[in-house]
Amino acid sequence: MNIYYGNSSKYLCNLLKMKLGSKYLNDKLKIEKFSDGEIHSIFTESVRDKDVFFIQTTNTSDSIMETLLVVDAAKRAGVKSFTLISPYIGYSRQDKADFNRSSIGSKMLSDIFEKVGVNRLITLDLHSSSIQGFYNIPVIHLKSHKIFLPYLKDLNLDNMVICSPDYGATKRNSELAKYFPDSTLAVINKKRIKPNEVHSMELIGDVKGKNVLIYDDICDTFGTLSKATDLLFEKGALSVRAIATHGVLSGKAIENINNSKITELILSDTIEDVYDKCNLSEKIRVVSCVDLINIALEKINKNESISEYNLN
Ligand code: R5P
Repeated sequence: MNIYYGNSSKYLCNLLKMKLGSKYLNDKLKIEKFSDGEIHSIFTESVRDKDVFFIQTTNTSDSIMETLLVVDAAKRAGVKSFTLISPYIGYSRQDKADFNRSSIGSKMLSDIFEKVGVNRLITLDLHSSSIQGFYNIPVIHLKSHKIFLPYLKDLNLDNMVICSPDYGATKRNSELAKYFPDSTLAVINKKRIKPNEVHSMELIGDVKGKNVLIYDDICDTFGTLSKATDLLFEKGALSVRAIATHGVLSGKAIENINNSKITELILSDTIEDVYDKCNLSEKIRVVSCVDLINIALEKINKNESISEYNLN
């Protein structure tokens, strides 16, 4: 396999290198940034007629631009196919027009990726599964519960309640609950009046004397999880843990986590500065998504089904 990687997934790809061996992940792709901020990308080996895989989280303007330029370079060099593995695709919360005359960033990004020449997309925990429908190319949507399960099982929690932080995450949380047959389910009715600010929360379910586990896709400012933690403790929870696949941790997130009563926040490393940020809080654990990406690559290489592994 011809696997290359960009600047926003370097750490993850070093972990992958340890698993696959460096012959599969190579450094023959140069991505340069000029002093005016422009980016340039060049393959320093032939990629003609090759199936190229490019690993890069695409959540910042630079990482998106880098990716587009790499696809462009690959296409101009005559690749057979280009698969983008983006562990976290930004703009996924813009999946519909929440207000009149607003942009839908997630749809726009899918149009650009396709237009520039991406032939297949592999990603983890899209904010909403329906984003897959924005693409006219195959989308392999990996579910992250497999990453977290070993850690969660080791915690050996009894009296567990799996709690969805909002209605949109109910399916994800009920799927996780299947792995803990003795657990019960609760849902929080979350209301927002503007982005990054939770207006109010109401709990549906019973958490008194229970160990609560919340499963969210994104932890950005920690606003949702902070308010949810307060509410759950107020309603009598014994402990409150949260897992979130994408640790955006923007703004005052770290300060908010440290000031929160949350027992533990478990994040994956789809966004790699999570490793630096977790050093700033004793409450954060990081569980790598590298095995999931490794398995997806292995299955593709052997032309085997990924969905059977992904969904079970
Ligand atoms: C919202 O629907 C998402 O699933 C997350 O709950 C949200 O984006 C997290 O953002 P924040 O941490 O800023 O509340």
